[in-house]
Amino acid sequence: MTDTPLPTVLVVAVALIDVDGRVLIAKRPQGKSLAGLWEFPGGKVEPGERPEAALIRELREELGIEVSESCLAPFVFASHAYDSFHLLMPLYLCRRWDGVVAAREHDALAWVKPDKLSAYPMPPADEPLVAWLRDLL
Ligand code: CDP
Repeated sequence: MTDTPLPTVLVVAVALIDVDGRVLIAKRPQGKSLAGLWEFPGGKVEPGERPEAALIRELREELGIEVSESCLAPFVFASHAYDSFHLLMPLYLCRRWDGVVAAREHDALAWVKPDKLSAYPMPPADEPLVAWLRDLL
């Protein structure tokens, strides 16, 4: 908690869930903030952009897959104060996509059972989402 006003940054993220109930996480690349930590894929919503359109764009850019908006369901929000901004991050669920996921912008990808996600170090904003997913899946 802080008394200093912080700008709010909206980031959209997704839990891609495969037929075996595993979730995709991606390792943030060197050179970016929080490098080496495992995150749910996604990224910043640009000014004027619809959040779902931003997520579809990020999944195309980062993973090379096509997702239809009708397949995306917002599930839970992360809300976390970093030093210089407050992150608000809806986590969408997605079970259907076209294409094969590839690490175009991340250092690595991993398909992980929800009860094993806590073994992967994550950004502090992402960590609380793991318990929600474990309860859901
Ligand atoms: O990809 P883009 O540059 O649009 O955004 P980003 O660098 O992935 O996200 C902006 C900031 O949100 C990061 O610097 C992280 O601090 C935070 N973030 C996070 O905590 N958890 C994520 N899954 C994604 C971003």
